[in-house]
Amino acid sequence: MRIPEETIDRIRQTADIIDVVSDYVSLKKRGQNWIACCPFHNEKTPSFNVSPVRQIYKCFGCGKAGDPVRFVMDIENIGYPEALRHLAKKYGIEVAEEQLTPDELIRQNERESLFIVLNFAKDFYHSHLLKSDEGQSIGLSYFRERGFLDNTVQSFELGYSSDQWDALLQEATRRGYRAELLEKAGLVLSKEGGKTYDRFRGRVIFPIHNVAGRVIAFGARILKTDKNQPKYINSPETEVYHKSQVLYGIFQAKNAIRQEDICYLTEGYTDVLSLHQAGIKNVVASSGTSLTIEQIRLISRFTQNVTILYDGDAAGIKAALRGLDMVLEEGLNVSVATFPDGDDPDSYVRKVGAETFKKYLSQHSNDFITFKTDILLKDAGDNPFKRAEIISEVIQSISKIPDPIKRQVFFQKTARQLQVDEQTLISESNRMVLSQQKQQLKQQQDKATSPGRASGPASMPEELTEILNDFSVEAPPVERRAVDPLNPKTRSSLSYQEEECVRLLVNYGAHELEPDISVCHYMLSELGNMEFVTPVFNEMLREIREGFVANEIRTADYFLKHQNQEYQHQVIGLVTFRHQLSENWLKHEIYVPTEVDKLADAAFSNILRLKKLVAEQRMRDIKQQIVQASDPAESDRLMVEYMHYKKVDIEIGRLLGTVIS
Ligand code: CTP
Ligand code: MN
Repeated sequence: MRIPEETIDRIRQTADIIDVVSDYVSLKKRGQNWIACCPFHNEKTPSFNVSPVRQIYKCFGCGKAGDPVRFVMDIENIGYPEALRHLAKKYGIEVAEEQLTPDELIRQNERESLFIVLNFAKDFYHSHLLKSDEGQSIGLSYFRERGFLDNTVQSFELGYSSDQWDALLQEATRRGYRAELLEKAGLVLSKEGGKTYDRFRGRVIFPIHNVAGRVIAFGARILKTDKNQPKYINSPETEVYHKSQVLYGIFQAKNAIRQEDICYLTEGYTDVLSLHQAGIKNVVASSGTSLTIEQIRLISRFTQNVTILYDGDAAGIKAALRGLDMVLEEGLNVSVATFPDGDDPDSYVRKVGAETFKKYLSQHSNDFITFKTDILLKDAGDNPFKRAEIISEVIQSISKIPDPIKRQVFFQKTARQLQVDEQTLISESNRMVLSQQKQQLKQQQDKATSPGRASGPASMPEELTEILNDFSVEAPPVERRAVDPLNPKTRSSLSYQEEECVRLLVNYGAHELEPDISVCHYMLSELGNMEFVTPVFNEMLREIREGFVANEIRTADYFLKHQNQEYQHQVIGLVTFRHQLSENWLKHEIYVPTEVDKLADAAFSNILRLKKLVAEQRMRDIKQQIVQASDPAESDRLMVEYMHYKKVDIEIGRLLGTVIS
């Protein structure tokens, strides 16, 4: 199967990287480029860059990079020709190719074949609904009765499966699709004896689209009331359908979610349809399963705000509450709204209309923590044991929130609600976090990953200055020093930052940032008595310090004339040639040609990076000590120290963010 070169060229010329990427992630403009949290790996701060000028994307976190076609291949996990077809479809470019023969289908990779056959089935059910007598009189009239308009039927590509054993199977076979493929797609079933028949029969069909709009599965609702049959039959898990990763309606909702900056999460297909039809388009459904982490991450590509719309039944609510701590953990803002008894979002919006519905939501939605506390309190009544349990459960939820400022707010709020002292909640939470972390640490003793998340708190300048000022650091122990500290293979980021620091000093040390404040003056006073781990840079720093005390600013010239050959060698490297960018600088593209103009920023961020790296090293050390600590008082003390560095680390991260942008 070949797509003509000419068509490929047209597709490549038409596809716009911003447009294509925006189908999957929410991009924000940053200078000339656009940025987002990378869809290919899990991250909290955006390192995914898209350049409209060069028509490419690159993630500085995981390294994925390419053009629009590559992006589609990667994100959809499909091959080159399929990616081209996908883009062609998006831009309405006709691809002249003959119909696929079964042989060609075999050669295509399985995923691609599945997409094709699922798309065929979707078209089959859809046209059956609109064109056949049975489809119209049974399926379409059912949708009409429920109030779904043609527009809705179109945008969700609803369909009907006729009440026969093998209507789909027959038509698919006639078109050259093999029964084996249909079975892999979950469309047909085989009996022991070898008889094959359609999975969906005599039901209305809800195609399930992935975020790019491709059909990956179906839900099928029964029309009669038959106690012996399930209301819905759904596609099984297949190569392309992983229930836990999918949200019904995400394709139709994603733009609205982005625009409104909030996502409504409902339980069922019909809730999505009704709300969408009423003009509330930022709505998806978890399709009867409890929420998964993958679904949450899918939402968080488009917004950080979720309101969960439950119908009023208490058992359902309580079950759902459990899964929600996970959403908090992902840093999303979660609210919950319940509906009057007996109503679900679908019935309620049809009853009252969109305006009243929205008003109801704004008046009856509560942040998740308040909601949960409320429900549990009602449940507990006056029973003191139960109340104690509630307190610990609520604290657990709050402790999951990564942002310390938000946590603070919730401690205040729930303290009032529970009528307990706020401080009690906080110390209880600390205790909980501590023991959890200790447990985690024990489990992953070797892995040097940091707990908690660096989503920085809002600005608190005084406290920050305080922290940074009393931030004296000693050199890490000698044994950690690499044999050859400058070997690029083993060199640490810290060593690169040290080099950067020395480079700034030898090039611009005498340059005045402000009247009477030279770069040398500024940087040395920020560094305090910090020692570098890379011996040669530490020596050079020491010489610069000595000079400064004697009122002499030692820059390149000084080191070039120095008797120590090593200095000469280093300084030539730092001065003559364009400086070899350190990892971090490359990563964030903050190197600028007009360096003198940005000298203050360069010096400031270098200092911050140095301190951040040292803080991180300290945290790793402390973690080790915590694991080994046997005395609880000792581990508490270490924990406090750890928290201090963590705070520094987060705060510097936040500051660095503002310097870069
Ligand atoms: N569901 C399911 N199988 C069932 C019942 C429910 O898969 N036997 C899933 C469906 O995804 C459904 C969701 O759970 O959309 C919510 O269930 P329910 O509220 O019963 O269905 P609705 O879609 O609201 O359908 P209707 O309003 O037509 O009753
Ligand atoms: Mn319903």
